[in-house]
Amino acid sequence: MARTAVSQLPRDGAGGSGPGTAKQSLDDARAHWREAFLRVRGETEKRASHLSAEDQIVQSMADASPTKWHRAHVTWFFETFLLMPHDSSYQIFDERFPFLFNSYYVAAGPRYARPQRGLITRPNGEEVAGYRAHVDKAVERLIEAVPAEQAARVFEILEIGLNHEQQHQELLITDILHAFAQNPTDPAYDASWQMPRATLGPRGFVEVPSGIHKIGHDGDGFCFDNETPRHDELIPDLRIARHLVSNAEWLEFMEAGGYETPALWLSDGWAAVQAEGWQAPGYWRQTDNGWYSMTLGGLKPVDPAAPVVHISYYEADAFARFVGKHLPSEAEWEVAAGAGCLADPFGIAWQWTRSAYLPYPGYRAAEVALGEYNGKFMVSQMVLRGSSLATPDGHQRLSYRNFFYPPSRWQFSGLRLAEFV
Ligand SMILES: [Fe+2]
Repeated sequence: MARTAVSQLPRDGAGGSGPGTAKQSLDDARAHWREAFLRVRGETEKRASHLSAEDQIVQSMADASPTKWHRAHVTWFFETFLLMPHDSSYQIFDERFPFLFNSYYVAAGPRYARPQRGLITRPNGEEVAGYRAHVDKAVERLIEAVPAEQAARVFEILEIGLNHEQQHQELLITDILHAFAQNPTDPAYDASWQMPRATLGPRGFVEVPSGIHKIGHDGDGFCFDNETPRHDELIPDLRIARHLVSNAEWLEFMEAGGYETPALWLSDGWAAVQAEGWQAPGYWRQTDNGWYSMTLGGLKPVDPAAPVVHISYYEADAFARFVGKHLPSEAEWEVAAGAGCLADPFGIAWQWTRSAYLPYPGYRAAEVALGEYNGKFMVSQMVLRGSSLATPDGHQRLSYRNFFYPPSRWQFSGLRLAEFV
């Protein structure tokens, strides 16, 4: 899954009460969106700049995409959903690219097989850079020239495109880490990288305000459609852990035989443990000097004080059972975070919740094509809340709903505990 945030920018480019005001407001909106667009596009290139051309074409598993593909796909998104429908003078950069760089938008046309994205060595990196520059120029031109009556819609799609690109900025990082973790030389994405420090202070549990609470996106800022509609949820009497579960706590689970005790696991989870041979979180490696983990800074000793990351839903669930607790539901998490109960709700690790990824009551997907963004994935996945160290500044939100399949663990996914009282 940012923030002087795109989500805090004005939403209505054509607003205002009189002709002078409206023009001023539109001019301000153009300036805002131009700045936001350049900033987000620049962040993608900054993240990619740590990587060689060879790094950028590798695909280490079906779920992960090459950096070069991410850079082109987010560009295709602007071309397809913003420029083609809203700029009649726009010239498509290359007729072959939509097939290569469409991800899962069935309404937008056919697409290349996801597991084979690493085979696309052509177009090369320079051509993808040219694609980005072509689309950048066209989008900047549209921002400057869009007529007032179309401005609100254009800026709305632009904002979705920017948030979409920010999501891929996070994936760019998690996907290359997965690739580097397969490399016996343990490459560093950034040799100076450091795990962000978790908040210190007394650990333990804090009470969550019980009763009926409003959940979901509030206010005028940006959100994805899956965060709506805002609705009531009943929060039971419970307490929630102030801190994220640490590596030290995870080591206790391992040393107590957590990965060898079927009674702690969901049936599918135990099957995954057996099939995958899990004995530790993702990227952990046992050495003569103890446990090490593959990080963005290369292979590093596991820091007992740091929050555990790269765990699946199954592992989070088994750990909670091991200590006699639960994972919070996403509503419980949102109420607790909104009440200021949580240390590090954002910025270190996404937190698995016990909530299945389902539509909120009354949810309606956005209109065609962009309607494929969230709604069609609402089955068989679990919700994670918060944000991670790879989430770009400005992209985090109290109501943000991330979602992954239960066995996934290549994201920076961790957990915090809850207990009912
Ligand atoms: Fe995408």
